[in-house]
Order: sequence, then C-alpha cells, then structure tokens
Amino acid sequence: MAWTRRCPSAPTDAERTRAETEPPPPEERATRQGLVRLLPRRQGNGGKRIPPDLGDTGVPWENHADGAGPAFGAGAVRIEPADDAMFQEHDAWCYDPPYDFYDSDGLPVKNPERFFAARDDDGTLVGFYFFELHDDALFYGFGLRPDLTGRGLGERFVLAGLEFARPIYGRRRVTLHVAAFNERVIRLYQRLGFTETGRHTETFDGYGAVEFIDMEKPAEHRRRPAGQRSVTVTWRRLDEPDFALLRGWLEQPHVARWWNHETTSEAVHRDFGPAARGEEPSEDFLALLDDRPVGLVQRCRLADYPEYRDDLAPIVDVPAGAMSIDYLIGEPAQTGHGLGTRMIASMVARTWSDHPEATCVVVPVVAANRVSWRALEKAGLRRVGQGPITPDNPADDPLHYVYRVDRPSTS
Ligand SMILES: CC(C)(COP(=O)(O)OP(=O)(O)OC[C@H]1O[C@@H](n2cnc3c(N)ncnc32)[C@H](O)[C@@H]1OP(=O)(O)O)[C@@H](O)C(=O)NCCC(=O)NCCS
Repeated sequence: MAWTRRCPSAPTDAERTRAETEPPPPEERATRQGLVRLLPRRQGNGGKRIPPDLGDTGVPWENHADGAGPAFGAGAVRIEPADDAMFQEHDAWCYDPPYDFYDSDGLPVKNPERFFAARDDDGTLVGFYFFELHDDALFYGFGLRPDLTGRGLGERFVLAGLEFARPIYGRRRVTLHVAAFNERVIRLYQRLGFTETGRHTETFDGYGAVEFIDMEKPAEHRRRPAGQRSVTVTWRRLDEPDFALLRGWLEQPHVARWWNHETTSEAVHRDFGPAARGEEPSEDFLALLDDRPVGLVQRCRLADYPEYRDDLAPIVDVPAGAMSIDYLIGEPAQTGHGLGTRMIASMVARTWSDHPEATCVVVPVVAANRVSWRALEKAGLRRVGQGPITPDNPADDPLHYVYRVDRPSTS
C-alpha cells in the first residue's frame, strides 16, 4: 500500500472475477492432450482477448508485440491471451498418427483464460500454451502447430513458454501430464529436467484407457543476472529527469501488478514531483548498482501521513517515530536474485542514520505479494500483525501482513 500514489480505478468485473476465481480441483485437469481436458468454454466472446487467469500471484497481461518476447525459432514469438480465433484455428489442426490423439475434439474449452496464443512476427499462430496454478506448482501444457512438429523446435517452444511464465507465475515447480505413448516428448521433458512422479490412466471415447505420466521439474535456482555484478546498493534521491525511467518501471507488469500506479507523464509528475522538489515530506530514492538505477524505494514518517497511519493503527501498534517504506525493482530480469532483499536491508540501515528520531520501520504488504513480504523477512523485518487494508490493486484481497523492524539498540 502507498501513501502518495493514486489508484486509478475501482475493480472491473473481470478483475473481481479473477481475484475470486479458485483453481479447479485437480481432477478437472484430466487431459487427453497431456494438457487439459477440453471442456465447455464460454461461448461468444466476440473474439475479444480474454484476460489471463493469473491466480493468486498474477500480474496484468504483458503483450510482447514489441518483439521483446521469448525467442523461438527464427524470431521472437508474441505470447498473448487466447481468443476465439485461436481456438478456431486450433480446432482445425490435424496431427499425424499416433499424435492425432491430440487433435481437438471441437468442444469448447472450459478455462479459455488459462490459454495463451504464441504467434510469430506476422501474427501466424505457431502454438498455444496453458498455465494453471496449483498450490506451489505451475501446471503446464502446450501445443505446437502440427506442421512445426518433428523439426527440433519443441525444446525452444517449451522453454519459451516457461520463460514467458516465470515473471508472471514466479519460479515454481512445474508439473505436467503426458500420454505414456508419446515417447518423443517425454525424452524432451527429461532433457529439460522433468522427472516422472507418478502415472494415472484415463478413459476417452474412441481411445479407451490411456496411461499418462505425471512429470515435474523443480523450481529453478536463481542466478545473479549478467550485469548485476555489484552487491552493494547505493542511493540517490529521485529527480525529475528520472521520471521517464520511473514511468517505464511502473509500466512493467511485475510492478504494475502490485503498485497499480498511473503511468502517464502527468500522473508521475503529480505523484513524484512534490517529493523530488522537496515540497513533500516523503523521500523517493533510486537504488543504484554500479551507478546504474535498478529500483525505487519510497520512505516516509508515518506521522506525516495520518490517513496511512490510521489504516495501520487498528492492526498493529504504530509507535511515535515509526517510518515506512515501499519499493520496486524496475527490470523484471533483476528480480528474484536477492536485490530486493538487499535494497530493503540497505534502506532500513540508512534510515537509522538519516532519521535519528526514527524508532522503527513498519511496512504493510498485501498478503498475496509473497515475494515482497519474503524480501522483508529476509531483510530482517518480522511480521507483527495482519488485517484488512484497502489494497493498491483493487483486484487483491484486502488482507495485508504488517512487518516491522526496530532501531537496533546500538545505532
Ligand atoms: C518485491 C521485490 C522488490 C522483491 O525483490 P526481489 O529481488 O525480487 O526478491 P528477492 O530475490 O530478494 O527474494 C525475496 C523472496 O521472494 C522469492 N522470490 C523472488 N522472486 C520470486 C518469484 N519470481 N517467484 C517466487 N518467489 C520469488 C525469493 O525466493 C525469496 O523468498 P525465499 O527465500 O522464500 O525463496 C521485487 O520482486 C519487485 O520489485 N516486485 C514488484 C514490485 C513490488 O511488488 N513491490 C512491493 C510492493 S509492497
């Protein structure tokens, strides 16, 4: 939650639905394609894009139309929410035996919002992806256009889907089901690090009993990205010339998902200008690695923002001298490598010297933002309470966790 930013809108129906949608029970994920059972999908959405179902860690949809999408084949593929046109195209696909088992039965799918179309530069459908969150795992499925199969493209296609999913669903265990007869794709999965975790059998009209192998790939280890050499975070105050950079960061889906900040130039000047000019008591800092801006931390004295403090007061004790921070890492590639944890720890440490009157740092985080509150925990804050606070993104449940760290007795 933030004290200076403005939420642009009330939740849309789609956002409410998304926030309320529970993943279906596992048995609904039965699959003929080793993917998902094609069950009745909503009809007649007029070919409109369906917002992806992002479950409890979702971020808004990112369109890779700028070519910045994952590389697949010769060029970049664009991965975008499936629309009716995609399903119609997919219905016409015919695989050679024995893979005709994967031909569409023409029935509408049940969860179209969990499908994504992969298109090449000129918009031609090359395949589709399916993602579904199930507890700590991401259930993964895909289909490559029949004429593209058998050409050694599968590995890149599978990896492109996983790469696409990572910033959206996080670094999770990935699970899938594959028909046991499909040895060529099983070998591919094994090369990519999937191992068998079980088997089950399902019965299909016209096919009888088909055995499936359940496979799983552990969550990936995080490596520091190229270019993130320095481990020391330094800081400088955010200034107006930084606003274009900041706007770009606020537009990044992984940030927009939680900050939900307006990103027009006017809005950024309106919300960050006063602090940059010293007209507002809060402080905005750029986090630098090797002098390169990588993130933002906002800091304020809670006493300067009584409404914000009053939101917290029913949930936790807010001592005099309490301060708060909010933060983001600008580039998705820089997340998940411990940088956020270091930024938070560094900002907390300098708060004791910057603000001799500060007694503690208190930070509320929407409960669904696990990455954020884990970063707080790893930076030394402890959870001191939880309760409802209006979320920055109206799609979220109001439940917030509140974290706190007290001034060390020696500082
Ligand atoms: C929140 C944020 C600053 C955290 O920084 P970070 O560098 O990505 O996080 P860290 O690498 O320090 O990791 C913190 C924890 O989150 C986990 N984590 C990080 N990225 C993850 C991902 N993509 N999926 C799942 N867990 C992830 C880490 O594994 C670690 O937890 P663990 O010890 O249980 O494994 C950063 O992700 C970000 O800018 N997010 C968008 C903006 C935002 O959410 N701001 C906070 C608003 S309250």
